[in-house]
Amino acid sequence: MQNTTTAQAHPNIALVKYWGKQSKPGNLPATPNLSITLSNLTTTTKIKEGKKDAFHLNGEQIEDAKIERWLQTLRSEFEVPSLIINSDNNFPTSAGLASSASGFAALITAVNAHCDLGLNEEMRSNWARQGSASAARSIHGGFVALVPPQWEAMRLAPSSHWPLEVVVAVTSRAAKAVNSTQGMQRSKQTSPFYNAWLRGAAEDYSSAAQAISLRDFTQLAQVAELSCLKMHSLMLTSNPTLSYWTPASIACMDCVRALRDQGHQVFFTVDAGPQIKAVCTAESRPAVSAALAQVPGVLEIIDCGLGEGAQIIDQ
Ligand code: PMV
Repeated sequence: MQNTTTAQAHPNIALVKYWGKQSKPGNLPATPNLSITLSNLTTTTKIKEGKKDAFHLNGEQIEDAKIERWLQTLRSEFEVPSLIINSDNNFPTSAGLASSASGFAALITAVNAHCDLGLNEEMRSNWARQGSASAARSIHGGFVALVPPQWEAMRLAPSSHWPLEVVVAVTSRAAKAVNSTQGMQRSKQTSPFYNAWLRGAAEDYSSAAQAISLRDFTQLAQVAELSCLKMHSLMLTSNPTLSYWTPASIACMDCVRALRDQGHQVFFTVDAGPQIKAVCTAESRPAVSAALAQVPGVLEIIDCGLGEGAQIIDQ
């Protein structure tokens, strides 16, 4: 076993969302989903052995029940010693930028290497999913699918297949009030649209996968925005309502639509938070970044490309 091991992973953003889980164990999404892995936004996780488990997030020691439960499950199958885990994000944490996705992908990658667990990519994806379902997708780079029956993420295409770019407009740095797991449960139990959401998911997934394979931007834009807006309709019609947008989020969506009317290849997607992610071609990226930076309430613009999967950077 090594002294310290460091892994890095990037968040991913879903173009076909999942929102709602299956009732059986394993933290399985209710619907097929598909994402792109980002570059630039990075979680770096360093682990070493300690007398007892300790978790530091961005330099601060915290209690994290999710990580504790996850380690307990991992230890029911593998011999894993007490670990001191230091995880740092170079972007806002728990604010709809998928920090739990990059977090669990980096963590299982680091633990696997540190403790010689012998897990291949599929198995790492499986373990990452048990921490946070979207984390299964951050094991891979490029275009990634999380689909039945295995629910281990698989790479649909590498970044080089279609080097799209993503402009993130940060409209708030506050951590979200309701986390994804609680929000999904609420929507499943209370939104009158939940069954319609389940019924439409397979078709959205096939359409997006086809658009990616054909590099058909218009088709991908249509299905990705629809999937995003359907998910937010579920959220908004939950009881109590789940409202993640700020006025600036809505203004950014209008800005993206206006850019598209001017001929730019761009579409938006929004997760469980107020940040807007504008997916665009390299050609349109400068105009998209400049326009979103001008929207009142936008605090920061982060330009990303498509990134690689989780990997060990130091051992
Ligand atoms: O798996 P979680 O708990 O990180 O939830 C992900 C929820 C969304 O980001 C809103 C959708 C998705 O498919 O990533």
